[in-house]
Amino acid sequence: MTIRPNETPLLEWAGDTLAIGLFEDAVELTGDLAALDEKFAGILKELIAEEEFTGKTNSTIFTRVGAGNLVRKVILVGLGKPEALKLDTVRRIAAAVAKVAKKQKTKTLGISLPVWNNDPAATAQAIAEGTQLALYQDTRFKSEPEDKGPQIETIDLLGLGGQEAAITRANQIVSGVFLARQLVAAPANAVTPITLAETAQAIATDYGLQIEILEREDCEKLGMGAFLGVAQASDLPPKFIHLTYKPETTAKRKLAIIGKGLTFDSGGLNIKGAGSGIETMKIDMGGAAATLGAAKAIAQIKPDVEVHFISAATENMISGRAMHPGDVLTASNGKTIEVNNTDAEGRLTLADALVFADKLGLDAIVDLATLTGACVVALGNDIAGLFTPDDAVASQLEKAAESAGEKIWRLPMEDKYFEGLKSGIADMKNTGPRPGGSITASLFLKQFVKETPWAHLDIAGPVWEDKENGYNGSGATGFGVRTLVNWVLS
Ligand code: BES
Ligand code: MN
Ligand code: ZN
Repeated sequence: MTIRPNETPLLEWAGDTLAIGLFEDAVELTGDLAALDEKFAGILKELIAEEEFTGKTNSTIFTRVGAGNLVRKVILVGLGKPEALKLDTVRRIAAAVAKVAKKQKTKTLGISLPVWNNDPAATAQAIAEGTQLALYQDTRFKSEPEDKGPQIETIDLLGLGGQEAAITRANQIVSGVFLARQLVAAPANAVTPITLAETAQAIATDYGLQIEILEREDCEKLGMGAFLGVAQASDLPPKFIHLTYKPETTAKRKLAIIGKGLTFDSGGLNIKGAGSGIETMKIDMGGAAATLGAAKAIAQIKPDVEVHFISAATENMISGRAMHPGDVLTASNGKTIEVNNTDAEGRLTLADALVFADKLGLDAIVDLATLTGACVVALGNDIAGLFTPDDAVASQLEKAAESAGEKIWRLPMEDKYFEGLKSGIADMKNTGPRPGGSITASLFLKQFVKETPWAHLDIAGPVWEDKENGYNGSGATGFGVRTLVNWVLS
């Protein structure tokens, strides 16, 4: 599919389907639209009246246009109130248009939407992102594709001539989101620590990034007892992935992005029971997927920022070699951990990854993890939890997420709750009481970062959509990639 900026006047554009945005309560046709309606023998006015179309955000109506016209069908899409038009509304509207157009067997689509905030570049980027994210299909695990209908081949962004660079930027970001979606959606017998490391290697080879994969023995030498404790029951080798993007000029900032990379989480000997969603636990590498997706996008964008992409990848399994509940592990910073619950494994793997990143002398570290069910209880499925002691990093991430259209919400790191992690035998336990479970998880992580400004995003909710939801579709969302890219570029 090709997306093209286009200056063809509305009245002259030729193709299968023309989509036009109309603001709420301003659906009377004037100017070009009145002229277009005249060409179509008044069919638009009729359609608006018949469907009682008021222009509510994301509402769509469509009609076939009489023979002899340059277009076959017209879609009218509601924009809501002009003052309420946000960048992400544009992205969502574009997604809604793309889905209707696809259903209507469109091959060539023209989209005419107003420019948001006098910013044609941001508008073009949002439309290019929204349409592509909405049209994403994943048939890798089907023997035959179910969708035999025609695919959209070209999308013309009318009135956005000259915005090639914005469309290229959208394509780079979308390629990262698609990689993250594919990694999360793939089952645990397809995405393993080995294949995750291979994916990182492929990004390094394709885009000229540096890569270092630490094997079990390397991790042993670094004293990564927490990560290796989680890995010890699996028949698959753990892989500690460290991918580095370095700009050609001097870096103006140095950052790390760390992703939880549990390719399957059975819970370990504290095994996940019936109704726990154990069969969905292939998604437990959603943080690593966002990290690699961001790496793929950043590698193409090439900003003046050095970025380290890190994941301690493994499975959490059971076997005769499994951690016993109650075992004491020693992390690579020397801190000892009583594993009172083997299902709180993500924070153990992150502990050693954070210590590793902290030693790199960076300006900031962000980790993303499908860390706690408690965060889903607190914020629901659409919103990630943001935890950080650093107000500056918090506001950078909040801004990055806002323009990405990804929802994050800061939760408090209440120091007093660390009491819940006190251990009689070791420096700390890995699990506290049920109340405030995502807060104690973040306080646990904080023990492994010394100086570097750091933030943690708990993405257990938004990593996956059960039902179709805007441009996120259903299934793996690729959550985090767009926020991370914006953050690195900020
Ligand atoms: N991977 C899970 C968290 C999770 C739950 C992710 C639901 C996505 C959806 C994590 O490893 C886990 O098992 N957390 C436990 C922690 C508890 C034992 C303290 C949880 O949330 O129940
Ligand atoms: Mn777990
Ligand atoms: Zn987990």
